[in-house]
Amino acid sequence: METLELELAKTHDETRQGEAFAPFAIDDNAYKKKFYIESYGCAMNFSDSEIVASILNDEGFGATRIVEEADLILLNTCSIREKAEATVRKRLTEFRKLKRERKSLLVGMLGCMAERLKSKLLEEEKLVDLVVGPDAYRSLPTLITEAEGGQKGVNVLLSRDETYADISPVRLNSNGITAFVSIMRGCNNMCSFCVVPFTRGRERSRNAHSIIAECRDLFNEGYREVTLLGQNVDSYYWVDEQKDEIVTFAKLLEKVALVSPLLRVRFSTSHPKDITDEVLFTMARHENICKYIHLPVQSGNTRILQLMNRTYTREWYMAKVDRIKEIMPDCGISSDVITGFCTETEEEHQDTLSIIEYSKYDISYMYFYSERPGTLAERRYEDDVPLDVKKRRLHEIVQLQRKYSELSYLKDVGKTFKVLIEGNSRKSDEDWSGRTSQNKVVVFAKNNQSYNAGEYVMVKVNQSTGGTLLGEIVDN
Ligand code: SAM
Ligand code: SF4
Ligand code: F3S
Repeated sequence: METLELELAKTHDETRQGEAFAPFAIDDNAYKKKFYIESYGCAMNFSDSEIVASILNDEGFGATRIVEEADLILLNTCSIREKAEATVRKRLTEFRKLKRERKSLLVGMLGCMAERLKSKLLEEEKLVDLVVGPDAYRSLPTLITEAEGGQKGVNVLLSRDETYADISPVRLNSNGITAFVSIMRGCNNMCSFCVVPFTRGRERSRNAHSIIAECRDLFNEGYREVTLLGQNVDSYYWVDEQKDEIVTFAKLLEKVALVSPLLRVRFSTSHPKDITDEVLFTMARHENICKYIHLPVQSGNTRILQLMNRTYTREWYMAKVDRIKEIMPDCGISSDVITGFCTETEEEHQDTLSIIEYSKYDISYMYFYSERPGTLAERRYEDDVPLDVKKRRLHEIVQLQRKYSELSYLKDVGKTFKVLIEGNSRKSDEDWSGRTSQNKVVVFAKNNQSYNAGEYVMVKVNQSTGGTLLGEIVDN
């Protein structure tokens, strides 16, 4: 079942899952030493790895994709579910052999698992030399020097103001067309199941000028899509003291959209309690703000939502879905769902199924509840839904969502969409792959037409195959 969950999610958006990646070597000869990094977890972590790469470049470390040639191996880790941590531990044991063969090799643990386990990690995992939390990446150079001298390096201090605003991320594994831009860090919501407030600290918004500058630079380098990242983007809030202006998320979205009409803007994640009409109207006003909202519901039952501390009810959520469709009838909506949260009954599970039916999500990321140490739920409630029940409920949800995903993709057959070409399709160099504004992948033949990645084309959809649309270029 867990595989099913992952498979479905992976097809739709690899970045949201614990998918490891290694960066391209940027310029092998320019650097004396090499680092290899794998990232797990959410897009924020992938984005952080690009900040880490920038800090390491300045220290004379170039990136490599070949783990055997690295002087420094880094795992940027995730703690969101037990399984995410188990994956990282398994990976660490695989590095053990390399470490035994080469005493000078350093292995570092970054990210949320580092933050959660702190120096305990050094005791548990004797082969880890560095443990660095998400707000402490600036201290990496010092910690590496200490570790090279034989001392273990730990910095897991969380900050109230660190946003890495001044660091230009080094794009890793980039297609040169789409990029993540982090707009805030941390989370002030206390969803009772969630470890993120503990691993990422207090919410803080990044200087809007630095965000716009990064987006403009990306556009000038040829990028044509930015995804603005935060755990709860709708609570973005930054005061421009010079102009005496309050920049809300809606205002920021507009400013980024105005960088160029050719730059697509996406964002993730929206909390249903915080997304405003102003954001929806801003999206509707700008063609280049993609018509797609990730609006995690978590559960369709009000009592469970209360226990989860989501601060909205089933009815409030449904009204938000209605409002989105009213303002942007063509807007895609996706969700996150958790099954088997503490005390969830069969009837309450049925409410989650029925809210999926009501919302008709294009896709959902579905999980069974995994108790996390230190969270409100772990301290307050008993994790009393048996694993087989959690998994059976997950299976039911996955099946239902699959039906709505198929319907959503089928509905697009016969329609024509503006597609941003992202690169060759995975299966053939003869085909392009791109996405619609609603975030659906479209594959279509190049047909010797002189288009390039980064250009927009009108594509008529002829067929839907699960998570992909197949189409053909039509006259613009
Ligand atoms: N900030 C975003 C939000 O509010 O939706 C994303 C949070 S988290 C990175 C992504 C998803 O993981 C959550 O929306 C939730 O569905 C799931 N999740 C978080 N904690 C979980 C847990 N303890 N067990 C199972 N799934 C969990
Ligand atoms: Fe976790 Fe809730 Fe914050 Fe999302 S909004 S990161 S689920 S605490
Ligand atoms: Fe995981 Fe941390 Fe993201 S726990 S989901 S990497 S914020």
